[in-house]
Amino acid sequence: MNQNEMKQAVAKAALEEIRGKLEKDSIIGIGTGSTANFFIDELAKLKYDFEGAVASSEASAERLKAHGIRVLDLNSSGRLPFYIDGADEVNGRLQMIKGGGAALTREKIVAACSDVFICIADQSKKVDILGNFPLPVEVLPMARSHVGRELVKIGADPQWRQGVTTDNGNWIIDCYNFMLDDPIKLETMINNIAGVVCNGIFAHRQANILLLGSEQGVERLVYPA
Ligand code: 5RP
Repeated sequence: MNQNEMKQAVAKAALEEIRGKLEKDSIIGIGTGSTANFFIDELAKLKYDFEGAVASSEASAERLKAHGIRVLDLNSSGRLPFYIDGADEVNGRLQMIKGGGAALTREKIVAACSDVFICIADQSKKVDILGNFPLPVEVLPMARSHVGRELVKIGADPQWRQGVTTDNGNWIIDCYNFMLDDPIKLETMINNIAGVVCNGIFAHRQANILLLGSEQGVERLVYPA
């Protein structure tokens, strides 16, 4: 299996995970990225079995709509039974780094409104310690330099992702050479820097289920086991 086949396999496994658990009025949360795209394509098979979806990005909203899946506003959706999304890195506690696609803020909001977060990823995303993938931080444009200086103070090597504006009109700083030895503490600490909108550590709200694709098939991990 190549990487795309693994992403497709976990997307299919996620569909099986929610099949039979949806009501006609269910609204589910949908993430962003290539793995989430595979899931959206699978979800189209069940489109008559649930009411619609809340998307974590404009790109995912467009893909859902192209399949004829209704896209709803989070403010009128209430709690969501499921949130399905990929990750840039995931550890054994199902804590993640997300935001490689610059959708971290909306992803974190939709995840916070969801009862069960199902993370779908190929085996390249599984790590012991988060941090090899540069940690994305969404900032208000006027705060870019200030946030960069504060990130240096806590040991990161921040680099502005030039040319990228998020769906919220903000900018992204990627933190290189920044191993996350205490993801919960660092998530809070970075959020406390003035001008930070959100950071890509998903430790306070980690995934509940990880569907991990490998050569051997799809492994299902739950934390706590
Ligand atoms: C987007 C994300 C994605 O979930 C993450 O980048 C993984 O993407 P892919 O499935 O394409 O590897 O956080 O902001």
